[in-house]
Amino acid sequence: MKLNTLVLGIESTCDETACAIVRNGTDILANVISSQIDLHKEYGGVVPELACRRHVDILIPVIQEALETADVTLEDIDIIAVAHGPGLIGALLIGLTAAKTLSIALDKPFIGINHIEAHLYAAVMSQPEAISFPAVGVVVSGGHTALVLIKNIGEYQLIGQTIDDAIGEAFDKVAKILDLPYPGGPQIEALAKTGNKSRFSFKPGVVKTNPYDFSFSGLKTAVLYAVKGQRGEQASILESDPAIIHDVAASFQHAALSDVVKKALLAAKEYHCNTLIFGGGVTNNQRLREMFDEVNPDLNYVWPLLGLSLDNAAMIAGLGYHHYLRREVGDSLDLEARTSISW
Ligand code: KG4
Ligand code: ZN
Repeated sequence: MKLNTLVLGIESTCDETACAIVRNGTDILANVISSQIDLHKEYGGVVPELACRRHVDILIPVIQEALETADVTLEDIDIIAVAHGPGLIGALLIGLTAAKTLSIALDKPFIGINHIEAHLYAAVMSQPEAISFPAVGVVVSGGHTALVLIKNIGEYQLIGQTIDDAIGEAFDKVAKILDLPYPGGPQIEALAKTGNKSRFSFKPGVVKTNPYDFSFSGLKTAVLYAVKGQRGEQASILESDPAIIHDVAASFQHAALSDVVKKALLAAKEYHCNTLIFGGGVTNNQRLREMFDEVNPDLNYVWPLLGLSLDNAAMIAGLGYHHYLRREVGDSLDLEARTSISW
């Protein structure tokens, strides 16, 4: 491996088109993210067809911007890394095809990256000095919720995952019930600040087969019933008492976040880990961070830096460096896009 290895990373799993250039796994020279929130906002969620079209339009300009920001040319790049799953199949194909094309044209190796693993690596690259293994990885994003035992970078064991909705998805769906714009997570967090979390006794699902699995779909339905009645026929309770929205948000948020805190801390105890590494957009929630500190202030919590918590390509490029270091060979050009990837 060269002393200074430059990896160009591409991310297009969902509704962000991103390209980053990272030196030696942690040194971010460019981290360009083109968000599609404006496009999907009016639908209250991501519309896959629209996401794909936008990726096609914007990916090449995003790559060009990353190269300009990093002040490098394509010839300077050593490795191409790309998220090849999990995600929306059409969206993945666009990033993967671009990465393979660059790899062939430049005659440089290319590495396919698991987007969820990269979310955890985002915290590692944010604070490399704070990391010690084994650690419990806590993925809380719009598409995924999982607890993973991290033995080392590239060595994982799945502890638990959601059996239905992801936690960020639950935030977004509850926001929709409350007529709040997409993405709902930040809106719910803001409203919850001045709400009474004990006003509604919402409960997350219990998964009997695995105490570490999550279920958020029943919680979302409980919020719907509380707001609009069992058949959705009742006038929203927000009409008669608009201020109650704060209590709904606080009660929902408390139920969802305490479930993550409880299960993550239980996993840390069972697997003898003092370090918890967090990834995904819901890590932006400050209340989540406070709750971990309140319940157990003695553990080592490693959170991603702000620019690395939502979908980005720096985490893809950074992790690509480590995978190449381990294997010293790129992936075959036959590598396929995957809507799900097992650990
Ligand atoms: O990791 P991410 O960019 O997407 C996936 O890979 O799925 O995360 C986006 C998710 C959205 O569901 C959004 O509502 C949620 O992260 N989110 C939050 C907050 N900020 C973003 N959820 C709760 N509180 C927040 N402050
Ligand atoms: Zn993500």
